[in-house]
Amino acid sequence: MAENPAYPVGLRLTGRKVVVLGGGQVAQRRLPALIAAGADVLLVSPEATPSVEAMADAGEITWQQRPYAEGDLADAWYALIATGDTEANTRASAEAQRHRVWCVRSDDADAATAWTPATGHSEGVTVAVLTTEARGRDPRRTAAIRDAVVEGLRDGTLVAPHHRTRTPGVALVGGGPGDPDLITVRGRRLLAEADVVIADRLGPRDLLAELPPHVEVIDAAKIPYGRFMAQEAINNALIEHAKQGKSVVRLKGGDPYVFGRGMEELNALAEAGIPCTVVPGISSSISVPGAAGIPVTHRGVAHEFTVVSGHVAPDDERSLVDWPSLARLTGTLVILMGVDKIGKIAETLVAHGKPADTPVALVQEGTTAAQRRVDATLATVGETVRTQEVKPPAVIVIGAVVTVGPQTSA
Ligand SMILES: C[S@@+](CC[C@H](N)C(=O)[O-])C[C@H]1O[C@@H](n2cnc3c(N)ncnc32)[C@H](O)[C@@H]1O
Repeated sequence: MAENPAYPVGLRLTGRKVVVLGGGQVAQRRLPALIAAGADVLLVSPEATPSVEAMADAGEITWQQRPYAEGDLADAWYALIATGDTEANTRASAEAQRHRVWCVRSDDADAATAWTPATGHSEGVTVAVLTTEARGRDPRRTAAIRDAVVEGLRDGTLVAPHHRTRTPGVALVGGGPGDPDLITVRGRRLLAEADVVIADRLGPRDLLAELPPHVEVIDAAKIPYGRFMAQEAINNALIEHAKQGKSVVRLKGGDPYVFGRGMEELNALAEAGIPCTVVPGISSSISVPGAAGIPVTHRGVAHEFTVVSGHVAPDDERSLVDWPSLARLTGTLVILMGVDKIGKIAETLVAHGKPADTPVALVQEGTTAAQRRVDATLATVGETVRTQEVKPPAVIVIGAVVTVGPQTSA
């Protein structure tokens, strides 16, 4: 006759007595979840592992240092039987049966009245996986299924929108430098739950292709801005969609607060009374050099790195950068948005004392399939950018770190 499947249930154990027999590895693995569930745990065992002992010392469980004795399970709601003594385990499960106490047995799943599922948690959900019958029990398979579900929920590949708890609003998500694997787990989950995504040109564009068809994807560069500035038009679009009760993700390249205008958007949303959450991202300023084999610091070579915007030339009155001071620094200089002006920037650095043979690397479209690295020096970089046709987006690294790795050109 086919065995009936187990009936899954969630036990609410707050303040309820749970008896654990045996203080070894099984108890060590199971106790944290029982403690987290608020159970009143009595451990009965002559010995315990150091971790279990620490739980008793911390007052998280009560430990009676002795073997199991008849009557231990009388007033328990639930029992975990895991001593190394099969005969004691059998006596204890017979007692559990008499008192109608559900019990798991580490040594004999067939003889148990309950099984522990493989469990995991993600964002307020507990995932519990059980095989349907004792003979089919395969702990590795259940753990693998649990891992796949939890991982999918965390990274957003398993889409399970929060229909009841999701609050409308905006998430400013740092998408990292471009490789879709370099977004954070939180960013990816929020993306998977979004109704509307307003995306920049930079960042993990490939992730947009994975979104379900009902998600509205808006290219930030294409938002018409009429009498507004482009940024104002983006802010307005965020506000409008959020006001319609939608869950909006503003997907940005790198980190939202590194030359990303994240705070301008956050302030506009705050003024409109719209809840906003900010998810950090991996900035291109560190990750793009790294992807091209350049560490921004290196022991004995550079004790600092400075990230600078090169979008206006050093002699432009709008520039907020103190280039003469930067020329005196001995560490690494990382320049974003500097391809157009790098010739002028290099001249200025040399004019203020930086050696003309200081190594420079330009890393174009870092972390994507089109990544390209071009090497030069301060003396040659202006010309190199022209002859090699280096195009934005590129991160420019200036300093001795450029040559510390095995690879100097690609
Ligand atoms: C407006 S800034 C935004 C920076 C972004 N918030 C960050 O943290 O990486 C854009 C500049 O970042 C750099 N950048 C961003 N992603 C890049 C990539 N994948 N490869 C090379 N440079 C990149 C370029 O210098 C580009 O011009």
